[in-house]
Amino acid sequence: MTMSNNLKITVSGGFNKNGEAESLSELELHPETSLAVIGPTGSGKSEFLSDIEQSASKDTPSGRTVIIDSEGVDFACEGSGVIAQLSQKMSFIMDGTVERFLNLHAESRNKGGNGLILSTLEVANTLCGEPIRLNDPLHGLSGGQSRALMIADIALISDAPVVLIDEIENAGINKLKALSVLSSSSKLVIIATHDPLLILMADRRLIMKNGGMESVAERTESEKGILEKIKEMDRYTERVREDLRFGVYPLSSAEAVL
Ligand SMILES: Nc1ncnc2c1ncn2[C@@H]1O[C@H](COP(=O)(O)OP(=O)(O)OP(=O)(O)O)[C@@H](O)[C@H]1O
Ligand SMILES: [Mg+2]
Repeated sequence: MTMSNNLKITVSGGFNKNGEAESLSELELHPETSLAVIGPTGSGKSEFLSDIEQSASKDTPSGRTVIIDSEGVDFACEGSGVIAQLSQKMSFIMDGTVERFLNLHAESRNKGGNGLILSTLEVANTLCGEPIRLNDPLHGLSGGQSRALMIADIALISDAPVVLIDEIENAGINKLKALSVLSSSSKLVIIATHDPLLILMADRRLIMKNGGMESVAERTESEKGILEKIKEMDRYTERVREDLRFGVYPLSSAEAVL
């Protein structure tokens, strides 16, 4: 079943941490757009993602209601495969190899073939440093490798039309590539982040304050110019980081010039 085209998520406001009604009383989200959730530490970004993941029904600390609707069908999300989540804390609870995990997931989605497994691994390996191998045990993967594998899995194997991402920048993976891998599959990407590059890559941003949804802002044309500048700076940082990680010493002066 393709659920992405007519999917709509409606978040109805609850209360901030003081128990006051949220400034933004309703928020509608659609596929093929991305939303950055921003605000200071503790302002409620992860709580917002978790409300969506659980289809909150006034039963979470925020008191929000989230309705996930596709062609008039309400989804009770759990197990429906509508939402894929990359959370701040993540680890595999399955015993087995990378190959077995990818195969099992592909089979459960009625997708198969060695080609898909290999391309998922290939994409994962464009995101992290030390390559992941098919016969690596899942438990042996580093934090960054696990995240890279999950991102590739969500992009290529999962059908979930909604992807929730918490703090991609902490994982030591290439965040620009990771976001473009996920956005390329016409999903609704909702990302909680402190990173200006990721914030400006989103079409809209939701500003959180004291646990409440404060306001929504659309990215402006002139902000796209700022985004290009930050991307260039990020590519530079990435280049220097890679050289340092691979033991280049001393860095050449050519590398040191932006
Ligand atoms: N509207 C709310 N009402 C009551 N409690 C809330 C609300 N929003 C968030 N909280 C609680 O406040 C705490 C901090 O929120 P949260 O973890 O979502 O912050 P965050 O913005 O993700 O912070 P960080 O940037 O550090 O990841 C959590 O315990 C969360 O459950
Ligand atoms: Mg958080």
